[in-house]
Amino acid sequence: MKKQTISPGGTVDGVVELPGDKSISHRYAILAALAEGASEISNYASAVDCHSTLECFRRLGIEIESKDAHVRISGKGLDGLRQPRKVLDAENSGSTMRMLAGVLAGQSFVSTITGDESLRRRPMRRVIDPLRQMGAEIRSREGDRAPLEIHGGKLHAIDYAPPTPSAQVKSAILLAGLYADGVTTVRESVCTRDHTELALREFGAKVEGSRGTIHIHPRPKLAARKLTVPGDLSTAVFLIGATLVLPGSSLMLRNVGLNPTRARVLDFLISIGAPVRIATVQMRDGELAGDVSVRHGALEGGSISGAQVAEMIDELPMLAALGPFTEKGIEIHDAQELRVKESDRIATLAAGLRQMGARVEEFQDGMRVEGRSSGKLRGAKIDPHGDHRIAMALSVAALGAEGESVIRDADCVGVSFPQFFETLDRLRGAESR
Ligand code: S3P
Repeated sequence: MKKQTISPGGTVDGVVELPGDKSISHRYAILAALAEGASEISNYASAVDCHSTLECFRRLGIEIESKDAHVRISGKGLDGLRQPRKVLDAENSGSTMRMLAGVLAGQSFVSTITGDESLRRRPMRRVIDPLRQMGAEIRSREGDRAPLEIHGGKLHAIDYAPPTPSAQVKSAILLAGLYADGVTTVRESVCTRDHTELALREFGAKVEGSRGTIHIHPRPKLAARKLTVPGDLSTAVFLIGATLVLPGSSLMLRNVGLNPTRARVLDFLISIGAPVRIATVQMRDGELAGDVSVRHGALEGGSISGAQVAEMIDELPMLAALGPFTEKGIEIHDAQELRVKESDRIATLAAGLRQMGARVEEFQDGMRVEGRSSGKLRGAKIDPHGDHRIAMALSVAALGAEGESVIRDADCVGVSFPQFFETLDRLRGAESR
């Protein structure tokens, strides 16, 4: 496992176009496999997670060609999947496991889906419960953990309000709803990312409703599509973080996804004083994307709670790690979901930041990271616990520390952004090499 040394300092300067959005790539791959005919997906995510989804569909009998960021998927229609001979492996990807569970629930065969050690620890009850209500038989390991053995079959439409806001759970139900005997409804108390709804419409499914209440009609004929995935804003946030940490920095991000259910992080950054500007916006394949510029600037700090948490769930590690670079610090509440991500993100962030000398108070549902007054960070040996977003967030904090830092198992960044360290090096020019 690779160790990565981070030398602090330098400036970020340049223009970058990011790999495709992870969430959107998963959805396009799933729906392309269920559509009839060959779909072409450009700028497909380089994230290992999205390749886990492709691998699962190969095991389900779907022909997939993938070269660089271009993926061609020969879909066989809603009933074209075949029983896999091997266990499906979602590796580290919660999105793959939960969303595929929805698809597998509608099949006329039994399949098993597992994942790596981290994914096998994560809660699956949230997806098992509604799929059982729809009629699927699902066996799990004790504590509702993966592997999941899914006995698919005829599904009933349900009207379901997930107890925990989760786009993965909503998506699993909507995907299962494609196989149901009537209109399935999901009611969200807090709106989560709506990529599944948008992608379902692109492929020809009938999805109705307004924010918070979504109805999916069963048995559409999904048609193959040519689609382009916008750059991943959740990944961009780490480069934005580096720009905000290093004085004199300036960065232009081209063609980054700006779906309003994902872009709240930009509003938050602007609200705490970050010089972030959205330069252009266009709509492509139902998704908004545009160019975003950011410069280094003084950050005031602020707090995050309530609905903001679901809207910025993947950006919270980076925002917390910006705490020591702000005037008043960053405080996060209502974010107990962070404890069941790829790692317990509240604990792993608090431990990493404290090792660098930050003052951190941990709460059951969040944390408070003190601002500048607690002094400059110092380099440290960091264990990200195999969690990609923790590795990237703490690497960015390390850029603003005194002395070198070493990130253990740094190749875990590949789960969402394999090119993270080289992109950072390129943007920091010769100084960091
Ligand atoms: C995702 C939803 C979120 C997010 C994850 C991707 C998605 O998870 O944290 O990285 O693509 O739907 P939850 O649904 O568990 O909140």
